[in-house]
Amino acid sequence: RHNPSLHVVREAQEPRSRPTEPTMSVLRRRRRGLRDRITAGNDAAVDRQHRLGKRTARERLEQLLDKGSFVEIDMYRRSASRSNLPKRPYTDGVVAGSGTIDGRRVFVYAQDFTIFGGSLGEAHASKIHKVMDLALSTGSPMIGLNDSGGARIQEGVMALHGYGGIFRRQVEASGVIPQLSVIMGPCAGGAAYSPALADFTFMVRETAKMYLTGPDVVEAVSGEHVTHEELGGADVHGSRSGVATLVYDDEETCIEDVRYLVSLLPSNNLDRAPRERECGATGDERPALADLVPVEPTQPYDMRDVVAEIVDDGDFFELHEQWARNVICALARIDGEVVGVVGNQPVEFAGVLDRMASQKAARFVRFCDAFNVPLVTLVDVPGFLPGTEQEHAGIIRHGAQLLYAYCEATVPRIQVIVRKAYGGAYIVMDSRSIGTDLSLAWPTNEIAVMGAEGAVNVLHRRELAEAVDADSRRAKLVAEYAEEYMHPHYAAERGLVDDVIDPAQTRSAVATGLAMLRDKRKRMAPRKHGNIPL
Ligand code: HXC
Repeated sequence: RHNPSLHVVREAQEPRSRPTEPTMSVLRRRRRGLRDRITAGNDAAVDRQHRLGKRTARERLEQLLDKGSFVEIDMYRRSASRSNLPKRPYTDGVVAGSGTIDGRRVFVYAQDFTIFGGSLGEAHASKIHKVMDLALSTGSPMIGLNDSGGARIQEGVMALHGYGGIFRRQVEASGVIPQLSVIMGPCAGGAAYSPALADFTFMVRETAKMYLTGPDVVEAVSGEHVTHEELGGADVHGSRSGVATLVYDDEETCIEDVRYLVSLLPSNNLDRAPRERECGATGDERPALADLVPVEPTQPYDMRDVVAEIVDDGDFFELHEQWARNVICALARIDGEVVGVVGNQPVEFAGVLDRMASQKAARFVRFCDAFNVPLVTLVDVPGFLPGTEQEHAGIIRHGAQLLYAYCEATVPRIQVIVRKAYGGAYIVMDSRSIGTDLSLAWPTNEIAVMGAEGAVNVLHRRELAEAVDADSRRAKLVAEYAEEYMHPHYAAERGLVDDVIDPAQTRSAVATGLAMLRDKRKRMAPRKHGNIPL
């Protein structure tokens, strides 16, 4: 009898024609040619790259990814345009694909300056689009290594179209997968919007440059003479514009830190950052903490020393280290769990909040919230910075961004009032009123509308103007005010502070709080999106 399945089996067993040996040898040669060479570009271009202290795209990926983990995509891709370009090298100036970092999947692209100056044409862009789509659909971090002359001039509007596709995908992926942008060469014109849209932007000194219009255009338009470095070098963006999150002396340490940062991040917004084993933080007393912070509210100290005592191994990854230094933003672990630490920094402008510090902290809080990273806020803040410069530059708007960011954060939130917390800045630094889950204060805390001196000057202005001995009267009133309103238990008596703790127990209390809040779930009312005051 006829049996159809037997028929299928028999057919499959019949000998088939295979690719011929010449075909396979061409394939092998071609793959070797592309992969084993460090670039598809010419040797002179590679030498020049090395002379400049830069490495090729493949050399960079070699360091970034776990050994042997790279799976290249679109290796054979090249420009379809035969007329505009002198030649059509494979890869089209970008190496793209996927690999692992400490065993965890990431998607990557690395622009190859040795081919058309790493400029972005249609094929180049579509390779980047492809890996971005895969990163999003697999829920994996996306890392871009940028080294490019920008839009490929010969490909005109198709190059611009390619950039638009990158920006749109970055925005769609924002808050879904972490995006890291590493600048290791030029990144000019509209191309600079890609790092600007990323969560973290790394730059390497001397070789990395980022600006919308280069020095020549600046000079032509305004007559201002400025060098590449002065206009858009790593230090400028790391300390003045705030565009660069992290700045390095060389590529190697930069890539090392990219790997380290990835180890602190979840792969996507449904995931949690990789936990390490608990290390006994609960019950871990740190007597040094009491000595680190002077009781006198105006005496400076370095909040980073406090952070180091609270987090595991004293190890934290500070972001925007050189920009808006009056606030600290760092990722670290407490009892093995990754947390985002925000802290006022009394060594810089007395830890006052200004518009840049507000913006820096707001963006960090939003990142942590989007990626399920609990927030620990260390408060020692005299207030917002007064003055026309700040007011006219929009401190109200920027301060509101920080307020907004905290108010909408649904991750576990712990506030520690280390010393003073005055006025609006007290509210903004994750106070009970805007939704902190656990507020802890040291026994010397001063929480008030303003410092005692300022308060007395407002409340008793007339009396002091008429007093015979105004100074001694003022001192008496200040003491009375402090006694009445600024005593450390005032906020705790009213439930605004959950516990007043021994400074030495801060690490332990925060670790206990994090464990308590680990399963926190909070949903905001459904909406398309909020309207953060940008
Ligand atoms: C095509 C480019 C290119 C580009 C560089 N090359 N940029 N090819 N399109 N945009 C080529 C060069 O012709 C050269 O080719 C090789 O890359 C290396 O460039 P050099 O100039 O020799 O290198 P260097 O001296 O290091 O200078 C690098 C540079 C400079 C500063 C980036 O090349 C430059 O200014 N390029 C143009 C930058 C620019 O204006 N881009 C457009 C920006 S507007 P050969 O064959 O000689 O080796 C933009 C809009 C995006 O990007 C909008 C998105 C919304």
